Amino acid sequence: MLLEVKNVKKHFKSLDVLKGIDLSIDTGEAAVILGPSGAGKTTLLRCMNFLETPDSGELIFEGQRYDMTHMSKKEIRNYHLQTAFVFQSFNLFLNKTALQNVTEGLIIARGLDKNQAEKKGLEALERVGLVTHKDHFPHQLSGGQQQRVAIARAIAADPKIIFFDEPTSALDPELTGEVLSVMRSLADDGMTMAIVTHEIEFARTVSNKIIFMENGVVVESGPTAKMFTNPDKERTAAFLKVTGK
Ligand SMILES: Nc1ncnc2c1ncn2[C@@H]1O[C@H](COP(=O)(O)OP(=O)(O)O)[C@@H](O)[C@H]1O
Ligand SMILES: [Mg+2]
Repeated sequence: MLLEVKNVKKHFKSLDVLKGIDLSIDTGEAAVILGPSGAGKTTLLRCMNFLETPDSGELIFEGQRYDMTHMSKKEIRNYHLQTAFVFQSFNLFLNKTALQNVTEGLIIARGLDKNQAEKKGLEALERVGLVTHKDHFPHQLSGGQQQRVAIARAIAADPKIIFFDEPTSALDPELTGEVLSVMRSLADDGMTMAIVTHEIEFARTVSNKIIFMENGVVVESGPTAKMFTNPDKERTAAFLKVTGK
């Protein structure tokens, strides 16, 4: 098991957003987190990458156990060197080129020199089909291309896992395909990914595991084929529109 979280809880004011989430992700697995808007999916993903501090929770990463509420800055920094996060809204630097967006973190956070960073950066842009656009600024790129640059930034540092929070939901429908196809090829290459998405068909065909959340709890999780054909819970069947159940 690469990553496991147990009993993750998070509230905002009087709202209990995560009510004790358990989940695990194996190396090489593409796990998709599905659920209605407001279920707590973004909050869960952000807690798993320490963009939010949960109220309680345990993280087991590569066999090492951490209290998620008491991680030191150094432990979090070290964890961040092994993870990457792709945001719904791309989060690119608008005043930097595609290549600079990819190399920035390699230079600043990882201490690569400019030549090493550019080599890695070009490889990553090649991987998402954008090496010819390396000198383009975000405003010169379509939304789909901007998200592919963000994915290049994520993969450039060879993370052990990438978290994706609805990577296509800010895109016009005709641009979602190019982003999903890059993600599909990463999955085919064995990249470990935890993906929040509303793209059910993509989830069905790319993921190994589905985690279905609602109201701050995991309703059901399991292998994708089982979840789409014979889930244990009526609610899962209804959400995934499994017929004959
Ligand atoms: N920073 C925040 N402050 C207050 N409430 C929040 C915050 N972030 C999320 N919420 C609330 O938590 C609930 C779950 O949000 P979220 O994790 O974004 O769900 P999802 O991604 O499944 O749509 C929603 O009711 C949302 O309004
Ligand atoms: Mg969300």
